[in-house]
Order: sequence, then structure tokens, then C-alpha cells
Amino acid sequence: MPGGDEALANTANGKHQDMQMAAEYDTSVSANRESRMPQVADGSFASLLWLCRERLRELSLRVLRCVPVVGQAFDRPRLQPLVSSHRQMLRWVRAPYGSPGKPASLADIPWNYVRKYEDSIPFTGLREYWYPALKSGQLRHNEVKPVTMLGDHLVFFRSADGRPRALVDRCPHRGVLLSLGQVGVWQPGTLTCRYHGMTFDGAGECVAFLADGPDSPACGKIRARSYPTEEVAGIVWVYMGDKEPAPVLDSIPHAREVLTGPALRILQIEWPFSHLNTLDNDIDLAHPSCLHRTCIPLSGQKLWGRVSAAEQPCGGIRASYVDDVPHAGKRHIDEIEWHLPNFAYFAPDTFLPNVAGYFWAVPKDIGNSVAWAINGVNSVSLRYALAFAWFMGRFIPGSPRQCVDASDAGMMASQGRIADWSRDRLTRTDAPVAKARLKLREAFALEQSERKNRMAGRSADD
Ligand code: FES
Ligand SMILES: [Fe+2]
Repeated sequence: MPGGDEALANTANGKHQDMQMAAEYDTSVSANRESRMPQVADGSFASLLWLCRERLRELSLRVLRCVPVVGQAFDRPRLQPLVSSHRQMLRWVRAPYGSPGKPASLADIPWNYVRKYEDSIPFTGLREYWYPALKSGQLRHNEVKPVTMLGDHLVFFRSADGRPRALVDRCPHRGVLLSLGQVGVWQPGTLTCRYHGMTFDGAGECVAFLADGPDSPACGKIRARSYPTEEVAGIVWVYMGDKEPAPVLDSIPHAREVLTGPALRILQIEWPFSHLNTLDNDIDLAHPSCLHRTCIPLSGQKLWGRVSAAEQPCGGIRASYVDDVPHAGKRHIDEIEWHLPNFAYFAPDTFLPNVAGYFWAVPKDIGNSVAWAINGVNSVSLRYALAFAWFMGRFIPGSPRQCVDASDAGMMASQGRIADWSRDRLTRTDAPVAKARLKLREAFALEQSERKNRMAGRSADD
């Protein structure tokens, strides 16, 4: 069994060596754990003042250290508060690969790892699921929109009735990109290839071949591959599998709660790393307390706690704290729910009251992904508009958006283009991560065996 599989299997059985080490460590420090924990901010006004004082102290020390001779006296080991600097992380995230502190190798696709595990890890995602592809406003009538998803190139356009349509972005005639073509040349809502004029309807059927004339035998015989689409809640969803999908609202857990409220806020972020890195981050309940320490809504998060991972009746995995270690402040994340193909669900009150949300990781290709933050708002008011402005405020220090853009993105990008699961030393805090990885791999194995059976059935029919 390869190293990664073994680690996953052992972790799932609770026998991982790391877990034993963590348990021993836990026993050895349990007597004086409190005294050994670093100082933290608890989100109160007093603690913010304390944080400011600490920052001022740090700045003064930095200045003093620059003064010759005097600097040596201040260059000593000391205790520091646990602080996550958005500014520092943003600077790192934006720095080009190869600059100091950001090795060029992080930009490389680890092809050896990919080849070794391509049969057991869905590097370009699972196929038999709906995915968000575009915001409705990004797909206008009479226009084509190319989108790369799950490692494939798709072209979206609207048919005459306004429905979004998705075809594989390859003309079946001689293979040029259909997205270089034009909509509405033959009939409204049809897509015409620019090379020789082969024209397709929304179902991918060839309905005209301009270079071959009105009696072209290609019509009705040649097809471009099409995928089912739906437009729900201002989002164009696409299903890139082989099966017949159930409707979006019946397929995606919590869809009616998140997608059918009076208002929706959607955010797309392109990330130069795999959706697998995002999986690890999404279900990881152990990181907000450290990484998001200075993200205002989470500044009172408990620093540590025993984490459990439980299967949900609707198929997801819920990571939650199981002990009664108190929170320092009012706001905190106590549980996260993760679902296939790869998204986290946040229940109302996780960040804002009356707001339930998704955080999707949509694979673009093998080393790139698009993160979708989809928030369903069940209350339309000025208060909520302002709360959302802050919530999504990319440039507002301490806002959740900035926490994600800076801190989460920094951590995930520093794992490399694809997080190498075979080298991870998982601990007991990673039980939800291990379970989610396992679930993803099981779903991938199932998809592959079903695909093989389908192909075997087809060749038997032939
Ligand atoms: S390649 Fe598209 S019509 Fe010829
Ligand atoms: Fe995070």
C-alpha cells in the first residue's frame, strides 16, 4: 500500500503514529497545559488594547535593534503574543514565485506525485456532481463564454429561450475552439464555429454547416458533447458527469436553505493551487484559532480543543469540538460541515446571523481552482447590507474576506500547487481532514468503477 494510503487508513482507524505521539505529548503537558499556552487575544476591547500595546512594543524593539551597539541589548529571545498579520500574509501571497521567502518550486506541478496517485486521487475533481460555473451576469445573450473546469474546456452560451448551454469547447469537425465562434449567425441561440461554419444548437446537435450548404449531410449526424446546465440563484451550474443528474436544488445538501433566500452574495476567487489544498483547509477546524487569531470575527476562538469528525445523514462530514474548553470571546467556529464534491457549508450564525453559506472549491485544472463563497441572506435590510460590505470587504483589515484572501490563501499556496498527502504527518486534530480525504477518494473509486462498467456495457452492445 502506498505511503499516503497507509497514512489515511491508519488515521481513519485511530492508529496513526502521529496520533500516538500527540496523545503522549498531551499527557506530558496536561498538568501544566494552561501555563504553557501562548498568550492570545480574546476579542474584547481590553484585549485589543493589549494587542495594540504588543504591536507598539514590537515596533519599538525593531527600531531599537537597528541602532548599533544598543541593538544587541534588545536582540534577545522573549515571549510574544500569537498574532497573525494580514499585511505580512498578503505581501507573501502577492509576491511572485522565486522572490525571497517564496520558493520558485512552489509553482511547479509535482508530476511524479500526480502520476503515482492519479488512479486514487481526483486531481481534477469528481465528475458526477453539479458545480457552479458562472454568475448569471457573466453569461449574456449572443455571447460565448469559455470556462475551464475539471481539467476540460467548456464553452457556455444562451439558447434562444435564454437557457444557459454548455458544450465541450472543441468543434467536432476539425477541432478548433468553439469559443472562437459566434452565437446567432444561423438562428438565435445557436453557436457557429468560425472556421467552416458548423453550427450547433444548445444540445450540441449540428443544425447547419455553412461551408457545405443547406443540404449538408452533417446536419443531424454530427454532435458536439453537451453537458446539463441549470440556472439557480443567479448561478449557472453545470454537471460534467455521464449520468442523468437530479435538479440542483434536490442534489446539493442545504441548497434550499442557501440558494432560495431573498438575497444572495457571491464571490469568486481564482487560486493558483489545487482544489485539494482547499479541501484540507475547509474541513480543518483546528486552524481558525491560530491562523485567524486576528481576524475580528474569530478573535475569541478557543485556541485548542478535541476535534471529532462525524458522518452526516445527508452524506457530509461534520467536524466539531467535543470538549468544553471555553471560548475566550463571543464569536467562534465550533463546527464545519463538508460535502462532496468539495465544499463547506456554514450554518446560520457561523459568521453572521440569518446567513447560511457555501464555500466551494471548483477545480479549474490540475494546479488551479476557483473558490466560490455563496452566502444566502434571509434578511434584507440596511444593517445586513453594511454587515455584508464588511464581511466581503477585501480591503477591510480583519474582515473575513481578507482573512481568506491573505491567511488561508497563503497557507494553501505554501503547500505547493498540489498538497502532497503522502508526506503529511496527520495528528488527532486532523481526524476530519483524514475522513474528508478518504471520502473523496472513495467517491473517485466509485466513479471510476462505474465508468469502466459503462464502457464495458457499451462495447458489449457494439
Ligand atoms: S473546425 Fe469547426 S467548422 Fe471546421
Ligand atoms: Fe481559514
